[in-house]
Amino acid sequence: MDSDRLLRELTEFLRIPSVSTLPAHNSDCRRAAEWVAAELRHVGCRDVQFLGSDTHPVVWGVGPQVPGAPTLLLYGHYDVQPPDPLEEWTAPPFAPTVRDGQLFARGAADDKGQVFCLLKAIESCGRPPVNFRFLIEGEEEYGSKVLFDVLRREPRRTQADAVLVADMAYVAPGWPAVYTALRGIAYAEITVRTAKSDLHSGEYGGAAPNAHEELCRLLGRLKGPDGKINVPGLYRSVQPPSKAERALWKQLPFKEREFLTRRVQAKALVGMKKYSVLERLWALPTFEIHGITGGFTGNGAKTVIPAEATAKVSLRLVPHQTLLTVERQLAAAVQRLVPKYVTATVHFLHGADPAVIEVNHPSFALLDRAFSEVVGRGTVAARAGGSIPVIPALRKSGAPVILTGIGLPDDRLHAPDEKLDLQQLWDGIRVFQRFYELLGKTSSRNGV
Ligand code: BES
Ligand code: MN
Ligand code: MN
Repeated sequence: MDSDRLLRELTEFLRIPSVSTLPAHNSDCRRAAEWVAAELRHVGCRDVQFLGSDTHPVVWGVGPQVPGAPTLLLYGHYDVQPPDPLEEWTAPPFAPTVRDGQLFARGAADDKGQVFCLLKAIESCGRPPVNFRFLIEGEEEYGSKVLFDVLRREPRRTQADAVLVADMAYVAPGWPAVYTALRGIAYAEITVRTAKSDLHSGEYGGAAPNAHEELCRLLGRLKGPDGKINVPGLYRSVQPPSKAERALWKQLPFKEREFLTRRVQAKALVGMKKYSVLERLWALPTFEIHGITGGFTGNGAKTVIPAEATAKVSLRLVPHQTLLTVERQLAAAVQRLVPKYVTATVHFLHGADPAVIEVNHPSFALLDRAFSEVVGRGTVAARAGGSIPVIPALRKSGAPVILTGIGLPDDRLHAPDEKLDLQQLWDGIRVFQRFYELLGKTSSRNGV
């Protein structure tokens, strides 16, 4: 493997600040799509198209025909999350840097590095052993609206014998995984208004309502100090993990103490203490506050009673919960919890249903074998706390969706100093190459 060349190519991709949630980066998202399109042509795609949007297109590709061989759909995303707070990065987020065998950049692990890994594994095969199809989107980090629309209009795009998604991590170093569940998400802005406009805090303080105070009280009520979310009905369809699953989780190399000290790096873990940490991360809904704005936050001091305040929040959903129901439940809970003199609005920005994945289709055994051969251990079945909105839609064609990845648990996704361990990348290329070859020896069932 020509690792210098590969590193140069991945660096080029990572330099593009394709932040999908910020309109100022629309042209960068487009550039990242063009980078992907060029790579698809490079691996022999005749048919490469931009679908659904000029700024955040889904990149579609059809690889060279391999008669009789199965069809494998590769899914990934070229967009990334905002890089702030910038001052907490050791080197700038879009100036990829290698230190100690790790490549640091926004998108290194999530998901550009992994898309790169899937593509370079095709290149390593020489001649493609299966019929490749590609759906590489540019809005995963903002709810995948473009791809949802494309698939609603053209559901046949997902037809395949198997779908491979590399947007996750090993459960621990040396422990590759496939995932049986993803959490869903309901992302909202909650705005409270208490008066027509801001007021002098001396003239009116003591008698006028304060929007920030009301917002804080509301947020404090939405989740108790015991970690329980105070949204009526929210836990109704939550199911505990099965005995078998619990037993499996006990076998994983996961230590709560180490999770606290090495990964969370806080003084204590929080949440519903009667559940194990893995159960809290994988099988229970969450309520998180992402940011609060309004009032005076600039330099210096201003004595004002804010009339409006907004919080960006999200709930994570677990299997059997549905987005639509949870959105209604949150909106109703907010109205119930604010006093009559406060106007509260809940505006949903994006959302996703949770996903449940069976992992008994024969293609999972092939991936297991590929990992065993290359890294010395097969895949364990785990769940994931994160979300990939489009996964339930990718499952609709009936093809097995293989959720896996080459990241490590400490890659700091969405956070400063996101990184990808280069050995993981080199191993990953060999793993996927081997997987493609093994799959190529089986025959197509779907006859796409
Ligand atoms: N790759 C992640 C999802 C993920 C992270 C799965 C960790 C498993 C473990 C994905 O890019 C992501 O971050 N998704 C967003 C989706 C949301 C913005 C709709 C998420 O989970 O916050
Ligand atoms: Mn991702
Ligand atoms: Mn992400």
